Parts: sequence; C-alpha cells; structure tokens
Amino acid sequence: MPRALVTGASRGIGRAIAERLARDGFDVVAAARGQRELDEVCAEITAAGGRCQPLVLDVSDPQSVAAALLGADVDVLVNNAGIGALKPFMETTAAEWQRMIDVNVNALYHVTHAVLPSMIEKKAGHICTIGSISGRSAFVGGSCYAATKAFVTSWSESLMLEVREHGVKVSVVMPGSVTTHFNDHVPSDDDAWKLSAADVADTVSYVVGTPPNVLVHRAEVRTLTVPHGRARR
Ligand SMILES: NC(=O)c1ccc[n+]([C@@H]2O[C@H](COP(=O)([O-])OP(=O)(O)OC[C@H]3O[C@@H](n4cnc5c(N)ncnc54)[C@H](OP(=O)(O)O)[C@@H]3O)[C@@H](O)[C@H]2O)c1
Repeated sequence: MPRALVTGASRGIGRAIAERLARDGFDVVAAARGQRELDEVCAEITAAGGRCQPLVLDVSDPQSVAAALLGADVDVLVNNAGIGALKPFMETTAAEWQRMIDVNVNALYHVTHAVLPSMIEKKAGHICTIGSISGRSAFVGGSCYAATKAFVTSWSESLMLEVREHGVKVSVVMPGSVTTHFNDHVPSDDDAWKLSAADVADTVSYVVGTPPNVLVHRAEVRTLTVPHGRARR
C-alpha cells in the first residue's frame, strides 16, 4: 500500500487531502501539532475503511522533524502546513514575520530533506506542496505571506528540475481563496463564493494520481463564483 505523509492534516485543506488520499488507497500519516484533532481525523478515516496514523509534529522545529522522520519511507509527501498573518507590513510584528518564514518556508527544507533520500533511492516518489495564487499575484496585507508562497513556487520548480531525473515528481498546487479557519483573523462577510477544502484535495488527488511518465508540475485552482470586486481571487 503506498504511503502518503500530509503535513497540516488536522484541519482545513490538509485534513481534506488526508481524507481524499486515504480514499484513493494511501496509507496516510497525518501530521500537525494538535494531537486531539489528528486523532479525530484518523478515527474518521479508519471508520470509513481507510488507513491513517497521527504524527504530532511541529514542522518548523528541525530537531523534532529529524527525529520523527529519520529514515522515513513515504511515496507521497504533501507539504501543506502553512500560516498567514494577513496584515499590512507595518502592523506585522517581527514574531509573526519569523513564524511565517519558519512554517511556510523553512519547514519545507526540514521535511523534504528528511523524505527525499528514500525517494531518490527508490527512483520514485512525489513531493506536492500547497502554494497559493498569492505566490504570483500580490495583495495588500500579503507582504510576507505572498512572498513565502512565491518562494514555494520558485523552490518547487527548481527542485522539480533537479530530481525528475531520479524519477521523483515535484508539484505545486496553488489555490485561490478556500473556506477554512486560515483567514479567521481577517473580517469577511461571506465565504460562500470560496473553494472548499475538498476542491483542493480533488486537485491534489489528480496531480499525484497521474501515470508514471506524466508530471503536472503546477496547478492553479480558482473559484468560478467570484463576487463583484474580488476579481483577483
Ligand atoms: N485557506 C486559504 O484560502 C488558502 C489559499 C491558498 C493556499 N492556502 C494554503 O493551504 C495550506 C493549508 O491552509 P488551510 O487554509 O487549510 O489552513 P488551516 O485551516 O489554518 O490549517 C493549517 C494546518 O496547518 C497546521 N500547522 C500550522 N502550523 C504548523 C506547524 N508549525 N507544524 C505542523 N503543522 C502546522 C495546523 O495544525 P496545528 O495548528 O494543529 O499544528 C493545521 O492542520 C497553507 O499552506 C495555506 O497557505 C490556503
């Protein structure tokens, strides 16, 4: 049974990806910091006939990641964990700035560095990272967040060019706005127009399910129900 490691799998997009990949036949390792939420996710997946084990892990902590993933053998890694303090630059604290860089950027190094060696050795595997359309289209309040997602796009493409000759696929899935708790700190009147987490999970499922000779490297997922005045999303 192929194995998938999904980071940030305790809620939102990551949870939907874990559920979807389990339905697709993956043995899922669901990673995040919250034990209770992870246990719930895995119980739900197991009750539905899938396989899932929780992994309590702060992906921004290099020592914890190295200890938890030493010798890890996974077929698919979904780098999904991410945070966004969406606010004007001058209102962004140094701690918020650092945290976004640690989780959205530095964690990609820690986690991917741990799982890539076994993929290269097997000459097979897939690293799929959740970026954002904000990675290529800036917005007010996104000075740090959008820049971290631009990093995701750029890093993914460089890594893809580097490891495809070893049989390892690298993809970036770039959603527009998605209904999750991610933006709870940003006042919003209506979420109904946004993508659902399941919409993004369907795309990840498609991207990791392509035949061995096919690579979907970059997938942008947008809503078609854009409210007036929100054309960018
Ligand atoms: N929502 C959107 O509109 C949207 C749009 C485009 C892209 N994205 C991207 O999609 C990804 C998921 O976002 P979401 O909307 O699903 O957010 P969410 O609902 O807030 O979920 C974030 C997940 O990441 C985990 N996480 C946060 N910090 C972590 C850490 N240090 N170590 C391990 N896990 C951590 C959280 O669990 P714990 O707190 O328990 O650790 C949670 O499972 C992010 O990369 C985000 O940038 C979101």
